[in-house]
Amino acid sequence: MSIPELYGMLGSSMVMQRVFALITQAARTNYPVLITGATGTGKEMAARAIHQLSKRAKNPFVVINCGAIAENLVESELFGHEKGAFTGAIKQHIGKFEQANSGTVFLDEIGELPLAMQVKLLRVLQESTIERVGGRGTIKLDVRVVAATNVDLEEAVETGRFRDDLFFRINVFNVHLPRLKDRGEDILLIARHFLEEERRRMGLSRLSFSTEAIVALQAHSWPGNVRELKNRIRQAIALKSGDSNGPGVIDPKDLGLFVRSSDKTVHGEVGILPLREARARAEKDAVLKALSLTGNNISKAAKLLEISRPTLHDLINKYGLREK
Ligand SMILES: Nc1ncnc2c1ncn2[C@@H]1O[C@H](COP(=O)(O)OP(=O)(O)OP(=O)(O)O)[C@@H](O)[C@H]1O
Ligand SMILES: [Mg+2]
Repeated sequence: MSIPELYGMLGSSMVMQRVFALITQAARTNYPVLITGATGTGKEMAARAIHQLSKRAKNPFVVINCGAIAENLVESELFGHEKGAFTGAIKQHIGKFEQANSGTVFLDEIGELPLAMQVKLLRVLQESTIERVGGRGTIKLDVRVVAATNVDLEEAVETGRFRDDLFFRINVFNVHLPRLKDRGEDILLIARHFLEEERRRMGLSRLSFSTEAIVALQAHSWPGNVRELKNRIRQAIALKSGDSNGPGVIDPKDLGLFVRSSDKTVHGEVGILPLREARARAEKDAVLKALSLTGNNISKAAKLLEISRPTLHDLINKYGLREK
């Protein structure tokens, strides 16, 4: 069976399937895209996927980390400069936008862009032309803009740190990446995939998660999202590969994770849940599956589950399954 993915982004959950559909749709257009999501959720991967799926795939994909450039150099980095434009400009410099001509520019951490640069960027987006610092005229460009942020730009607009006109300009198409903990089955899908990939790369013979590790992976809140998952698995493999008994089985402690007491029975056995929790999990899974099968159609999903629509709505609320 092939693994559900989009340019390396793994995901079989309903929420990620929806993200993949949005990315595919966005890639067919030339509109600016704003990718939002917490740290480590795959914003850069999504930006690359949009580029790869677009007609521009063979042309450059240029990354600009807006938060990493000194404020006085941002303009020259983005738009370039002519020789002698300022002290230290000893030769002509081609900026990132020009380098990205006919391709895609990825403005990472766009919320960090200084206000003065926001005005200039807005003009570039409106007119599709740039001016090099110290340059005489404008240069016509064909660049597709994809931006990403992990700060709430709407809030930044309200507090005056981000221009509303630029926000509207870049937010034509919004792709929101959910947190890993809200991706259900994807946690294990990604974990197993990374484990297998690393196992092969390290030339190890066998390596698997213990039942306890599987429970712990599902219970953890993943504040660092997919990046954290990758790092924990790497760390676990590093610990295991030095093990004289051979690699073998990964336990929660190898992942730096701890099993919650509610995951244990009174006998201290892991993998058996109190019946109340087991029922709740089974109920949640059934609802998720029904929604997924019916493409989120409440009436059809309720019919599948043999419950009423209001009951289904209650369950969706109870388990926080509603998309914001
Ligand atoms: N769906 C996914 N499947 C597999 N790997 C993923 C997925 N999403 C993210 N990753 C991996 O997780 C790591 C973080 O991804 P990425 O750099 O795209 O996140 P980001 O949202 O840009 O993070 P940050 O906000 O910290 O810049 C990368 O190693 C990436 O390969
Ligand atoms: Mg990033």
